[in-house]
Amino acid sequence: MYQRYYAIYMNKILVTGACGQLGSELSTALAHLKGVDNVIISDIRQSNELPSGMQFIPLDVLDQEAIDKTIQKYHIGQVYHLAAMLSATGEQQPRNTWNLNMNGLINLLEVCQQRSVEKVFWPSSIAAFGSHTQLVDTPQFTIMDPETVYGISKLSGELWCEYFHARFGLDVRSLRYPGLISYKSPPGGGTTDYAVAIFHSALKGEAYQCFLGENTRLPMMYMSDAVKAAIELMSVPKKDISIHTSYNLTAFSITPGELTTAIQTHIPEFNTIYKPDFRDLIAKTWPQTIDDSIARQDWGWRHDYGLDRMVAEMIRNLALTPN
Ligand code: SER
Repeated sequence: MYQRYYAIYMNKILVTGACGQLGSELSTALAHLKGVDNVIISDIRQSNELPSGMQFIPLDVLDQEAIDKTIQKYHIGQVYHLAAMLSATGEQQPRNTWNLNMNGLINLLEVCQQRSVEKVFWPSSIAAFGSHTQLVDTPQFTIMDPETVYGISKLSGELWCEYFHARFGLDVRSLRYPGLISYKSPPGGGTTDYAVAIFHSALKGEAYQCFLGENTRLPMMYMSDAVKAAIELMSVPKKDISIHTSYNLTAFSITPGELTTAIQTHIPEFNTIYKPDFRDLIAKTWPQTIDDSIARQDWGWRHDYGLDRMVAEMIRNLALTPN
């Protein structure tokens, strides 16, 4: 009986990394769904892009005591732990990336277990795979030998999530996100970011200088699908979750060349110039297409946006966004 009252009392949601590309849109969606007063957003520092209406608290996920105080003070029952450094930035600062991505996650998992937080969401990534993975139609269970520090932290993080579930019964849920495409917040330091930056050049009437090769194929997803997937996964009955590391997840797979062609159907004079750099080498160790049938079976995952619909939405929304 006390457990029931405890669950009612600890009913707020904490989002870490809420100023990031995924965090800002996921926080807004959660606030619509659960009410602005029920979502506490946090990041290491406040940004101008902050979603409005929700309470912001500065929180460094490397400070475990601060996490603990936050969870108790705000009666947190669910956490979306998004604070992390991405793949390209990670290669510039390997040690800091490992520290933030790994110790931030373990700090959070420990506090959530100790304070009986009901559910935790944590994003993994296609970066958890590597060059010995089957890169076409990548299965859920396969060789995983990531070559970036970001990818190593994601694979290790998946195993820590599974460990906390098996050892302590902590309800941690996770998705291996493909590249995320959005118009509201810019991404920060990822290999898949070309698929966002390309739209900004196209809308400015400029050619885009692409850091991936014309034929480098990666799985991608429009942001509203990414947000939908996280919220749906968190609402599935616990018994239906069969994957406690992280679910494969995808929407569509594209190359920079194909994305350019799709943009040209709206902006015919648009052009891309290819200057592949180290990020192209990273991308070539990641899946080209993904088998996400277990997510589709377990909790009914369906994406809404394919390539053409995503491109039309990005162009329409960016055209309406003031510079
Ligand atoms: N979008 C991420 C990156 O490019 C991968 O999860 O780093």
